[in-house]
Amino acid sequence: MSADPRLHALCAGLTLEEKVRLLTGRDFWSTHGLERIGLRPIVFSDGPSGIRGQSWDERDPSVSLPCGTALAASWDREIARAYGAVLAGEAQRKGVDVVLGPTINMHRTPGGGRSFEAFSEDPVLTGDLAAAYVEGIQRHGVGATPKHYLCNDFETDRYTVDVRVDERSLREVYLAAFEKAVTQAGAWLVMSSYNSVNGATASENDLLETPLNDEWGFDGVVVGDWTGVRSLRSARFSQDLVMPGPDGPWGEALVKAVEAGEIDESAVDRKVLRLLGLAARLGRLDGFAPAVPRSAPRLDPTGFARSAAAAGSVLLENRGLLPVDPGRVRRILVTGQTAQRPLVQGGGSATVVPAHVITPLEGVRAAFPGAHVEYRPGPLVENGLDFLPPNRTANPATGGDGVHVRFTDAAGTVIHTEDRHSTNLVWFGGEAPIEDTVTVDFTTAYRPETSGQIRFGVSSVGAVRIEADGVVVFDEEIEPVGTDLGAALLAAPVRAFEIEAVAGEPVELRLTHAPRRGAEGLRNALGFRFGLLPPDLDDDRLIADAVAAAGEVDLVVVVVGSNKELEAEGEDRRTLTLPGRQDDLVTALAAANPATVAIVNCGAPMLLPWAVEVGAVLQAWFGGQEMGHAIGDMLTGRAEPGGRLPSTWPAAEGDVPILAIEPVDGRVDYHEGVHVGYRNWLRLGRTPAYPFGHGLGYTTWSLDRILAPAALSPAPDETVTVRVGVTNTGGRAGRQVVQVYAERADSAVDRPAIWLAGFAAVLLEAGASTVVDVVVPIRAFAHWDSGWQYEPGEFALTAGFSSADRRLTTTVRVA
Ligand code: BGC
Repeated sequence: MSADPRLHALCAGLTLEEKVRLLTGRDFWSTHGLERIGLRPIVFSDGPSGIRGQSWDERDPSVSLPCGTALAASWDREIARAYGAVLAGEAQRKGVDVVLGPTINMHRTPGGGRSFEAFSEDPVLTGDLAAAYVEGIQRHGVGATPKHYLCNDFETDRYTVDVRVDERSLREVYLAAFEKAVTQAGAWLVMSSYNSVNGATASENDLLETPLNDEWGFDGVVVGDWTGVRSLRSARFSQDLVMPGPDGPWGEALVKAVEAGEIDESAVDRKVLRLLGLAARLGRLDGFAPAVPRSAPRLDPTGFARSAAAAGSVLLENRGLLPVDPGRVRRILVTGQTAQRPLVQGGGSATVVPAHVITPLEGVRAAFPGAHVEYRPGPLVENGLDFLPPNRTANPATGGDGVHVRFTDAAGTVIHTEDRHSTNLVWFGGEAPIEDTVTVDFTTAYRPETSGQIRFGVSSVGAVRIEADGVVVFDEEIEPVGTDLGAALLAAPVRAFEIEAVAGEPVELRLTHAPRRGAEGLRNALGFRFGLLPPDLDDDRLIADAVAAAGEVDLVVVVVGSNKELEAEGEDRRTLTLPGRQDDLVTALAAANPATVAIVNCGAPMLLPWAVEVGAVLQAWFGGQEMGHAIGDMLTGRAEPGGRLPSTWPAAEGDVPILAIEPVDGRVDYHEGVHVGYRNWLRLGRTPAYPFGHGLGYTTWSLDRILAPAALSPAPDETVTVRVGVTNTGGRAGRQVVQVYAERADSAVDRPAIWLAGFAAVLLEAGASTVVDVVVPIRAFAHWDSGWQYEPGEFALTAGFSSADRRLTTTVRVA
């Protein structure tokens, strides 16, 4: 790397101790500064669908955008760029320099627990949108961090699992997803993953050098995933920064290793130069102008969250039901627990605390002001805790709502207090003196809404003791699930207990928690959550209630979805079935009223066995805080559901080429090679419920002609333009995504049946035609075999509206 000579001079002026100190975080979210050289700390934050900031605190809320799959479903680079810009604005507002996103691992299986955060099963769609997202952030002077490099495509045993994958698949699929974010968008950071790839853990893997540095020209910082860098040995690799700090495997051990001549000081210098270079880019180093002046994006985050949720929602089915003219419906039934308790984001480090969430029920009420909207909850969707509603709690210290929290040290002295409005309490760094805290307790007076048995739940790891009106009602040591302490903190086990209460009469609650401290470095994090659990209800009666109401209305809106356990960091899914009796609910509603629209609230594929029985199915993903309004907009046609599936949706679990992840001897073999996602479905001759690229929208389209150069000669960085004639044949303006796939009939190489070569979104008025230019990189015609190779001969290019709906063909001869 040829860094600015002034950076070399700065580095040369540092002692070895000073250099090494810079290479491990100062705390959970920031790096060390060094006043002497005018270096200020760099502040990181998750990411990737909202900016949490340095604390997870309802008093400092964040805008929650639609999840990664929803963004990818837009197939729209402009939306991805705007998404990045909104995040940059949020980062600036929260004093954050670097966003830990985008998450761009592949949807190798629909069961990936963290797929909601990532984009797609296709490397071209992922790579193009990732580049646009990174550009969107960095053009405002905030750093972006594509993650997790590499093959963290599932969560099972994520710290230790060894992914075995051949060189060609790495290049054509898994690395390709990251490539443009580096080569085109010039990402300032990359995050290395926890897992191993081909026998070497990511932070000790040659992939950090080749292709990232020496081929792609990456000159930024490789930050390890949190607690992911676990050895001194990793300092020998192109791993630059250890997070979180202040402890870590480098520190003193690295100083000694350099002094003993075991590790060359130049390896340390290289990391320091990169870190200084990053600080300079971010404007965190005196005397250096930032790479891009920090500018505030001119976008309204709330308005963007709403329009992006609609742009990414996928209309899977529509039997003439949608859109609905609000003037023509008088009575609407909204049903499903999810209508009132939606999941607007997936679980884990991606979670932010929004200032508000518009529920689907609220969205429908707002969109149909003239209609009578009734709500029936339907069967239970076990969804963890409902945090205590602030308006039913009283803080004994302030007299206002919420809870009073105290942190006590080993001597029994109260060292910190907080007055909070939420019972969702997680501390990751921030101001609370977590490291010195031995117990944390909170007190509140809770006024129940109903009389009788109330089910409470507490979620944490360590000792928990709860008193209600001075009587101990719960006293347990809660063990973590698995060894993944980060995930244990974010998705700790929930324990239930019940008390008898009278509606409106306050119950004095005191919860005391002695956290379990991880040897693995989570000593500056703490999580403690408390709330209500749904009472044991009679699902048959709840379904019957909803169905009886459905017969009386002009429109039924049923909202179904997954839950916090199914889609969260730290675990994969073994089933794609909607939890609880939701399928029974929709089936019964469809029989009761054909004007039933099912809205699906999940981040990755689910089975929808009733999809052909209802009037319409709208996949709304984890739609962010404005999801309810976006649903209202789409139901009435104010907005068109603009999304196309970024991954294949199966009709049955048995059809899915790869579902469960079961490491064998600590390994997972990517045996399907380059045949990932729809490529594998086609290869195996299986038909999914909805193919990759599918999505209906509110108008109809035709493709009229396709034109491509007849011949081309390989020139790696060049592109060809495929021109596709498109007509909006329907009665309203709409948006379509023209998808161009490549295939090769007589190949000596084992190729995918088809592969996405390029795509372009188009907006057209009713009846209008245009020619869409789809830019296809020449690389789309290459395969990897110790280098990019071009097999001479004829490639077919097909244009269409999904991987299964390809309507026009042309050929290109590669010389
Ligand atoms: C996740 C990362 C995240 C980091 C910090 C890790 O557990 O894998 O994606 O950025 O935590 O929260």
